[in-house]
Amino acid sequence: MSHLFTPLKIKDVTFRNRIGMAPMCQYSATDGVMNDWHKVHLGSRAVGGAGLIIAEATAVRADGRITPNCIGLWNDEQAEAAAKVNRFISDQGAVAGVQIGHSGRKGSAAAPWNGGAHLKNDEGGWPVIGPGDVAFDNDGTRLWKTPAQMSVADISEMQELFVAAAKRALAAGYKFLEIHGAHGYLLHSFFTSLVNKRDDEYGGDLRGRARMMLETVEAVRAVWPENLPLAVRLSVADWIEGGLTIQDNIQMAKWLKERGVDFVDCSGGGANPKARASIGSRTADQVGLAGQLRAEAEIATMAVGLITKAKQAEEIIASGTADMVLLGRKLMRDPYWAMNAALELGVDVKAHVPMQYGFYIG
Ligand SMILES: Cc1cc2nc3c(=O)[nH]c(=O)nc-3n(C[C@H](O)[C@H](O)[C@H](O)COP(=O)(O)O)c2cc1C
Repeated sequence: MSHLFTPLKIKDVTFRNRIGMAPMCQYSATDGVMNDWHKVHLGSRAVGGAGLIIAEATAVRADGRITPNCIGLWNDEQAEAAAKVNRFISDQGAVAGVQIGHSGRKGSAAAPWNGGAHLKNDEGGWPVIGPGDVAFDNDGTRLWKTPAQMSVADISEMQELFVAAAKRALAAGYKFLEIHGAHGYLLHSFFTSLVNKRDDEYGGDLRGRARMMLETVEAVRAVWPENLPLAVRLSVADWIEGGLTIQDNIQMAKWLKERGVDFVDCSGGGANPKARASIGSRTADQVGLAGQLRAEAEIATMAVGLITKAKQAEEIIASGTADMVLLGRKLMRDPYWAMNAALELGVDVKAHVPMQYGFYIG
């Protein structure tokens, strides 16, 4: 019996197995609208047997994109394009999910393969916003724009945008919604004292800095159906002195749980560029932290970071470290990773891949 391939039911949604595709920006959309690239990229991993497919960071407003070619859910055209992709994903037996967010002060960037630097307004970029005027990086070689400090009215408007995006996600057929609270983007930038220096009710101590995330989650939970799972991705550690620790995030997870969040997706880093160098080696540690957070906050977790082998993934689920594993780059290399993992673990693949393939394999 495989733990990895045991279905998981959360609310009214059943995942055929514990394998999810991690959200991965594709920098391939025009005007925030998904196209054939996204359909094949996401759809092929559904064919390949993953139980959950999470679409990349999806902006709640145009200025919430990371790059000009990121996707969005701020208009109906975007939701209609996503609906076509989602129909294909669910026809293959996978759950279609999406990560909604706002890039904050890390938006207005070029795609990584174009250097990833901040785009000036006359290069297709836009003014950026944040909890205050702390830029992402101004002492490295890449200069980032100074964000405009959001007023309390801006914060309320932003929370309404998350609500509107959640409603569009529902209309687009997503059955799993994740709020992006990690990687130094807007919600995380409010939570970490590395960025948030406010002295009003949205800053100060841990509870004050958590307010933006918690109010946003509450507002989204109120419109995202009770019977569908809601997740939040956190950077469970900032990986730098003075930043958020696992204990801070365990407290956050408890607050999220009280507000009806079903899963914490445990990622890490992203708030400070000096921590970047260590992210690569620290990603493996995230898996352990997912287990600690699951035990102490008593909430379901998703583990992510350098998960590449079937037995490794099986052990993560079997040991109670996480309820699901998410794979990013390994699934890029092998869309059929889940199918191959089933074969390796001696699981009947027919329950996990479409019959067009499953009938002949195993
Ligand atoms: C090309 C690429 C794009 C990514 N985009 C996102 C994203 O949109 N949202 C997010 O939360 N994480 C994003 N990530 C991080 C992944 O979701 C994942 O956490 C990370 O790659 C570690 O998992 P892995 O070792 O299995 O790749 C991205 C990673 C890559 C490689």
